[in-house]
Amino acid sequence: MTQAVHGKEEGNLTQDNPHYGRITSFSLRGSRLGDKYEKLMQERGSEFTLQVPAGFAHATIAPGARIDLQEVFGRNAPIVVEVGPGSGEQLMHGARMHPEWNFLAFEAWAPGVARCVHHAIQADVQNVRIAQLDAAQALPIVFGSPLAPAALQTAANDPEKAGEPQFAAEVWTFFPDPWRKKKHRKRRIVSPAFAQIVASILAPGGIWRLATDWANYAWQMRDVLAQSPWFDLQYLGKNPDAADEGLYVGGFAPRFAGRALTRFEERGIEAGRPVHDFVAVRNEVPILSQAVPEDPWLAAKAQGIEVLADRGGERAPSSRRGFLKAQAATAEHKADQSSQGTADGAAS
Ligand SMILES: C[S@@+](CC[C@H](N)C(=O)[O-])C[C@H]1O[C@@H](n2cnc3c(N)ncnc32)[C@H](O)[C@@H]1O
Repeated sequence: MTQAVHGKEEGNLTQDNPHYGRITSFSLRGSRLGDKYEKLMQERGSEFTLQVPAGFAHATIAPGARIDLQEVFGRNAPIVVEVGPGSGEQLMHGARMHPEWNFLAFEAWAPGVARCVHHAIQADVQNVRIAQLDAAQALPIVFGSPLAPAALQTAANDPEKAGEPQFAAEVWTFFPDPWRKKKHRKRRIVSPAFAQIVASILAPGGIWRLATDWANYAWQMRDVLAQSPWFDLQYLGKNPDAADEGLYVGGFAPRFAGRALTRFEERGIEAGRPVHDFVAVRNEVPILSQAVPEDPWLAAKAQGIEVLADRGGERAPSSRRGFLKAQAATAEHKADQSSQGTADGAAS
């Protein structure tokens, strides 16, 4: 088990906190393991779980921790990261299909971790490790990405000494908690900030695969991926969905052949909710050693994008209002073009 602090939150989750990317995408209800899993974790937990120095709050890792993933798995092999494996159905499916890969899962919910361990023992797989950690907080630290607090501090003082990052080959985020109520949607894990975190642990060419059975989350995922500076969303402009309430630029992938039919997917299908898959490929755009602000105007500036406007034939720095207006017009234009394409396609 991780030695994370359980129960009471320590420290406050404000901007003063050295942790970046704290997204409360999980709920802690029903976190008791019960006797069977307590015993299992005591006897076999350490074989399959990542041991890390605890951070400031539940399911967090200490900001300055250094993890050698080659040592953790006892070999050097491509790493697949699964975010939120639940009880590990997909994780074991992947591990059995690809014994030549290492599988590292981040599950914040203690009973989920215990179930993953139980299934790893049953499946008799050696290539799986589970971290009881909040993926948003822990991924940059575990991989030593440029977004890890230590790297941020070092890079600010001496960019040459920012440390050697490790990389994942793929990241999987299948059927993340949907947070259905409108007021809870900000808790969804797939957001622009999380896209930056995932991008920070993938080398160019690395893949982020996602799936959801909640239509409204599918539009959100697609909008995040289509607009992320660090990903090339596959199938962009293809496979439009008439129900799409987002940017309406397609981007829906065929079902990933490596995906098992999990309980969550089954439930969605039974309830008549179509599943949307996504494949996003990490491009060459470097990660900034700072968080990208949510505000698109500040984000553009932080990424060094020149924000210029046409002023009487001359290019001059744009106002914030002008920039946002231009962005909205571009999105509308894209949507028009895409629906035009769809209409043409349907007519032919
Ligand atoms: C709806 S379940 C999906 C389980 C699994 N992917 C499947 O398809 O069967 C989502 C899981 O993600 C976990 N989770 C949510 N936010 C997380 C985070 N920030 N870090 C790690 N796990 C998280 C939850 O505890 C839960 O087990």
